[in-house]
Amino acid sequence: MAEFKTAPAGASAGEKLMTWVDNRFPATKMYKEHMSEYYAPKNFNFWYFFGSLAMLVLVIQIVTGIFLVMNYKPDAAMAFASVEYIMRDVPWGWLIRYMHSTGASAFFIVVYLHMYRGLIYGSYRTPRELVWIFGCLIFLCLMAEAFMGYLLPWGQMSYWGAQVIINLFSAIPFVGPDLAILIRGDYVVGDATLNRFFSLHVIAVPLVLLGLVVAHIIALHEVGSNNPDGVEIKEKKDANGIPLDGIPFHPYYSVHDIVGVVGFLIVFTAVIFFMPEFGGYFLEYNNFIPADPFKTPPHIAPVWYFTPFYSMLRATTDWMVNVLAILVGVAAVLNLIKGSGDGKAKMGALVGAAILIGLLKVLEAKFWGVAVMGGAVVILVFLPWLDKSPVKSIRYRPTWNNLVYAVFVVNFVILGYLGTQAPSPVGEKVSQVGTLIYFGFFLLMPWWSRVGTFKQVPERVNFKPH
Ligand code: HEM
Repeated sequence: MAEFKTAPAGASAGEKLMTWVDNRFPATKMYKEHMSEYYAPKNFNFWYFFGSLAMLVLVIQIVTGIFLVMNYKPDAAMAFASVEYIMRDVPWGWLIRYMHSTGASAFFIVVYLHMYRGLIYGSYRTPRELVWIFGCLIFLCLMAEAFMGYLLPWGQMSYWGAQVIINLFSAIPFVGPDLAILIRGDYVVGDATLNRFFSLHVIAVPLVLLGLVVAHIIALHEVGSNNPDGVEIKEKKDANGIPLDGIPFHPYYSVHDIVGVVGFLIVFTAVIFFMPEFGGYFLEYNNFIPADPFKTPPHIAPVWYFTPFYSMLRATTDWMVNVLAILVGVAAVLNLIKGSGDGKAKMGALVGAAILIGLLKVLEAKFWGVAVMGGAVVILVFLPWLDKSPVKSIRYRPTWNNLVYAVFVVNFVILGYLGTQAPSPVGEKVSQVGTLIYFGFFLLMPWWSRVGTFKQVPERVNFKPH
């Protein structure tokens, strides 16, 4: 146990209280470690707003969620009407509901931009691998949270969206059909599904999410933040051990982040007050019709933030599985001829590829669609080990890398757009190419991230005071 401290003579009542607290709980120590003596690089830019904004949206979702639960009824016979009741009769209920529904989309916008920042500045690389992995787990939880939340209003899209996505699980060999029943709690989506999704959405997943966000921040503060130059500021310290290019998080970034918060709130409130449905992207029009298990809507699409992954699922047809089998074969042969491993490793890779090709042909395309969709998220976890570039930040990578990242982003947006549209032969082909580009970006990274002329990384960060 740490020794009890006493407040200095003449200390104010506040100081005495803090001494009393600090002897029992490390409040001042934590405040210093994470705020006033957490030294962040002084060259943060626009992209660094989105971490604090993600925290803001998390708080908005939790607080508005608490108020929604006060009037929502998790019962298949009453859920839809209870949401209408919130919208029409509960004082300020419409505002709470629109904040929550807009907040869901805002969460994904903010988190996608936050992840993109990590991607361009190489923030996932040593020593921040765990910061990134916790981030990926947060992203997975966020997807589960949004998917389950969407069932709760019990509209047509809630119902049929859940039906389609849960049915995908039945494509998993051996356990699939039982797993789908376990998730639904019934043979079709019904009251049991609504009850378990409500319980998971309201308490289980948010608890995990909060725990992961705490772990994400602790991991970040252990190693320190990266910055747009990708320079490790801890490598150049003054006589007191303070990074030369570091500034205390509080007050500098606590105040700086307010700029981001104000900008965000202007856009957020504009959407809530003037276009809460956002043209059917944030709240789908079909979801204003109560769920009807006997009437399948002609076109079922998930909300926009899932659609890039949904496109990859739809792209995985029998034809696409054949293309994948050929690509696996070509990769194995290329590895045999040009790979750097020894003979044993090369033979191992060849056998592995043969098994994978066999599985691709034996298991149905629907399963591979699910595997591709899941793989598109899981592959993010491996990014720290796929990137072999000698520099972190895009600023010092070969200029053509900008084009690679631009293609990746535009491709992701196109996949997202196609996922909102009804299936078409052209759309299918484009999303197949898009799926290959998405995976190619990651799987070929160990090669392309090493190629080209790299610029000299400066010793200290670039910073112009304004
Ligand atoms: C609820 C969601 C999330 C919250 C509240 C959150 C919060 C934060 C905060 C406050 C920071 C420090 C400020 C900043 O660098 O912007 C941060 C940094 C970071 N986050 Fe997140 N984050 C979330 C999701 C994610 C996801 C999904 C990923 C990636 C898959 C991710 C990857 C990172 C990385 C790599 C850093 C370090 C950035 C750097 O130092 O350059 N985060 N996060």
